[in-house]
Amino acid sequence: MAGRTAKWALALLVSVARSQGPAPVYINAPYVTTPEAVVTAMLRLAGVKSSDTVYDLGCGDGRIVIAAAKEFGAHGVGIDNNPARIEEARRNARQAGVETLVRFEVADLFEADIHNATVVTLYLLPDVNLRLRPKLLHGLRAGARIVSHSFSMGDWHPEKDVVVESSHIYLWKIPALKNR
Ligand SMILES: C[S@@+](CC[C@H](N)C(=O)[O-])C[C@H]1O[C@@H](n2cnc3c(N)ncnc32)[C@H](O)[C@@H]1O
Repeated sequence: MAGRTAKWALALLVSVARSQGPAPVYINAPYVTTPEAVVTAMLRLAGVKSSDTVYDLGCGDGRIVIAAAKEFGAHGVGIDNNPARIEEARRNARQAGVETLVRFEVADLFEADIHNATVVTLYLLPDVNLRLRPKLLHGLRAGARIVSHSFSMGDWHPEKDVVVESSHIYLWKIPALKNR
């Protein structure tokens, strides 16, 4: 009886400790940057203009969002779950003089609210792109564009697939609600 009570107390302690510990951080892609020429090509492929809001899921040092603001006058949001990357991205945005057009958040890309995005950029991994499909399909408005560096979306047929500096970049558009 005493043994059972002790086990129950231990289980309770472990569950309290777990519920109070930091949330786990899921690294779904390593940190590798998109070369500048590929960044510009991705934004051109998406037809980014000043009325757009560009979200980069896993934004690293913020280069895609910063280029969207600097080169095209767009608004941008960068999401990364590594706080050091977000600090760096904010610093880079200030240096580029676009801090009023962009913001950066420490968050898990699978949890991020993306409904305001008109363009989403990705440089992740094939399996992460696949897992993101439902979030993109149901979280974005009709006509939103998705551009991915290097990795496709399984059997989602891209509207465009171009090669820049040996990297594939793919473009998809979110269809009208009735066709999803
Ligand atoms: C390949 S890098 C791409 C960086 C940037 N988008 C670019 O193209 O230069 C992937 C980034 O995703 C971030 N990342 C990985 N898993 C993540 C997650 N679950 N939530 C948010 N960011 C994540 C990493 O910290 C890393 O900065």
